[in-house]
Amino acid sequence: MTTRINPSILAADFANLERELGRIATADLVHVDIMDNHFVPNLTFGLPMVERLAQVTPIPLDVHLMIDDPDRWAPGYAEAGAASVTFHAEAAADPVGLARRLRQIGARAGIALKPGTGPEDVLEVLHEFDQVLVMTVEPGFGGQSFMPETMPKLRRVADAVAAAGLDVWLQVDGGIAADTIGIAAEAGADTFVAGSAVYGGDPTARIAELRAEAAK
Ligand code: DX5
Ligand code: ZN
Repeated sequence: MTTRINPSILAADFANLERELGRIATADLVHVDIMDNHFVPNLTFGLPMVERLAQVTPIPLDVHLMIDDPDRWAPGYAEAGAASVTFHAEAAADPVGLARRLRQIGARAGIALKPGTGPEDVLEVLHEFDQVLVMTVEPGFGGQSFMPETMPKLRRVADAVAAAGLDVWLQVDGGIAADTIGIAAEAGADTFVAGSAVYGGDPTARIAELRAEAAK
């Protein structure tokens, strides 16, 4: 099985982002958390930052939009060079239309579900997406504890993807570390976001450890 490890630069040193990207050369994608202080009670960075990051790193950008009105803003991130753009189901007015626009621009289209959001709507339109992100914490902050109660939902999405024979990546985000990644892998995840677990130590060693634990 393919395992993707996407370190989140939310846990990196914002004053030295180019250097921090250099420390995760063994990552599959780099996870970029965009927060607007409305959809979530925290503020990070926006489009100009993503444009520059895309210019300075060869690692593909996995943009996670925790913002209101993604219908308006998400295509700009695809145009800025993000390889993948994931918006929240709770915030989008027209998720399928937005996913089609993202794909048209050339990005992978992702849809994210908060812990309390059911998968039913997404299951009906799975083929419109390249990735489903099952949040394993309430979005907004790094360093929170993994919520195992989200695993039945992940399993449901994984089963539906397999039954339909689709190549939709299943991403988990929040509290992913050496002691939790196996639980998410077991439930069907193949793409793992980790912020504090990667940048809390030597990133190369931490990424290798996560890969090993996911494969167990
Ligand atoms: C949380 C963000 C996550 C965050 C994860 O809202 O979406 O991507 O960076 O951080 P950790 O891995 O520390 O839980
Ligand atoms: Zn995220």
